[in-house]
Amino acid sequence: MQTNIRRSLVVGNWKMNGDKSLIGKMQSCLSQVDLGNMDWAICPPAPYLGLFDSSVRLGVQNVSQFDSGAHTGETSVSMVKELGCQYVIVGHSERREDNFESNEIVALKVQKILDAGLTPILCIGEPESIRDAGNVFDYLTTQLNAVVTLLGISAFANIVLAYEPIWAIGTGKTASPEQAQEVHAFIREYLAKQDSNIAAGTVILYGGSVKGSNAQELFSQADVDGGLIGGASLNPEDFLSICLAANQ
Ligand code: 13P
Repeated sequence: MQTNIRRSLVVGNWKMNGDKSLIGKMQSCLSQVDLGNMDWAICPPAPYLGLFDSSVRLGVQNVSQFDSGAHTGETSVSMVKELGCQYVIVGHSERREDNFESNEIVALKVQKILDAGLTPILCIGEPESIRDAGNVFDYLTTQLNAVVTLLGISAFANIVLAYEPIWAIGTGKTASPEQAQEVHAFIREYLAKQDSNIAAGTVILYGGSVKGSNAQELFSQADVDGGLIGGASLNPEDFLSICLAANQ
């Protein structure tokens, strides 16, 4: 774990999983432990947001790029703010794919989230074909450039980044600690070329098949500041062990 100004963060992304009974189990499991050296949050499906107690820091998995109006099925950032959310996952590869969210739409959503005073967790990551072709850094640069172009580098003072290689999501095929570190260092260098202070303070999470058994090794990398956890965040004990790995 880093010994610098960045505080570790572990975020559970339940995706479209879980049920009401998991909320109670998760709350009682996590309340037994002092996780004072790190931050953690849960991003459940939006209908469950109001059912958590105040001990849980909440995030949501998506918001609309619009403020309000005729957008059936969408949720606005002011609504999730009213329900106590602090974080908003934005640009997850599943939304980019299922909902055709372009880099430009993702950037507009980041703007809405920042304007509301919430923290975007901006996901970037390459498909396997891009890695095989040796184009990872160019691909990530394009994803990051869209946000810098709209909002400027200063916006990154309030953005959490999550590197989620698509080939590692839900596949059990985790990036090795060295692969994760290589990309995280590249992302930090990308930021540093534009503003070294912002680069030093930006929390960069790794996501993709993180489990209790591999979290420690991943989080020990210099530029890996925590994790964005899918499948393992549905198991309270597993999620707790990942939080403990970051709590050092
Ligand atoms: P898994 O941890 O299930 O691989 O999912 C990662 C992810 O997509 C978190 O947003």
